[in-house]
Amino acid sequence: MNSENMQNILIIGAGTMGLQIGFLCAVHGCSVAVYDVDQGVLAQAEKRVKTLAKRFSQQNRLSPEAVEQTLARLSFTSDPEAAGRDADLVSESVPEDPALKGKIFAQFHKICPPRTIFTTNTSSLVPSMFAKATGRPERFLAFHFHDVVTSNIVDVMPHPGTLPEVTAAVKTFAEKIGQIPIMLQKEHPGYVFNTMLMSFLGEALSMAAKGVASIEDIDRAWMGVMHTQVGPFGIMDSVGLDTVWKITSYWAEKRQDPKARKNADFIKKYLDEGSLGQKSGRGFYSYPDPAFARRGFLRSRNPRPADKK
Ligand SMILES: NC(=O)c1ccc[n+]([C@@H]2O[C@H](COP(=O)([O-])OP(=O)(O)OC[C@H]3O[C@@H](n4cnc5c(N)ncnc54)[C@H](O)[C@@H]3O)[C@@H](O)[C@H]2O)c1
Repeated sequence: MNSENMQNILIIGAGTMGLQIGFLCAVHGCSVAVYDVDQGVLAQAEKRVKTLAKRFSQQNRLSPEAVEQTLARLSFTSDPEAAGRDADLVSESVPEDPALKGKIFAQFHKICPPRTIFTTNTSSLVPSMFAKATGRPERFLAFHFHDVVTSNIVDVMPHPGTLPEVTAAVKTFAEKIGQIPIMLQKEHPGYVFNTMLMSFLGEALSMAAKGVASIEDIDRAWMGVMHTQVGPFGIMDSVGLDTVWKITSYWAEKRQDPKARKNADFIKKYLDEGSLGQKSGRGFYSYPDPAFARRGFLRSRNPRPADKK
């Protein structure tokens, strides 16, 4: 299998990441079937994909004709047979649960041709946790994306049983769709960037959970010193608080880590109120006009004498 043959892409899970990955593959000429079990999610998918197209157009990454062609290459379905029977590459983005991921791959192992490469977009698990359950461990690895609007970095992480030519084909495919592959030489939960990010977010959550400073001030501190548009709590809103909670509580349990448990409990209060972050219109901030993006968020609250009229 070489990446030239990877034309038909199956995306499993039409949520935050599945849709972004599917859209990116379609931008680069692939035919993309997006599969989900939730009809409500599928009903919204077309609208959400148009929003992504708009953001790519604003960045001058897509002409109006290319937008039309990209949208025409995407299809949405809840029929696993139709979605999987001619797939060259599968990219899975269902919730962060190794048992669920393994079960879904086993289902598609029966539907997809033997040539199909299976990849997971897991954030914090490692592929060997559910490689056997996929039914084709030698053609399975992690292929992990970041936000496709703001980044072009992907992690390519095989497990010890992945065939080297499968890893090489995914690396070449990553380049074909305009990404910079970061090649993991051994399994590592969190890959490269996310390992650094999770400890950063964990410290921010821990300070908020302990009441050290407000969410806004913690973001302000980071944004003001690092000159970034967003701080740790704004980042978590864009990731999705349900996803951050799942990852945090998974590791709290696995490592019996009381600090991570406290952080997970802190996020859970938001989930219980239906605040999932940007995707639900409310998280740590309210959307579409979050306070951290407003003029004045970083301005001094006590104007210098020269600023007073
Ligand atoms: N959100 C991020 O920023 C981000 C970034 C990189 C990786 N990831 C990883 O990507 C994966 C998905 O995260 P997300 O944020 O897109 O989640 P999400 O909750 O937005 O989407 C998950 C989707 O999976 C669907 N689903 C659930 N069970 C299914 C099944 N049996 N068959 C088909 N579809 C099913 C749901 O209906 C939902 O639409 C997770 O493993 C996460 O760790 C997330």
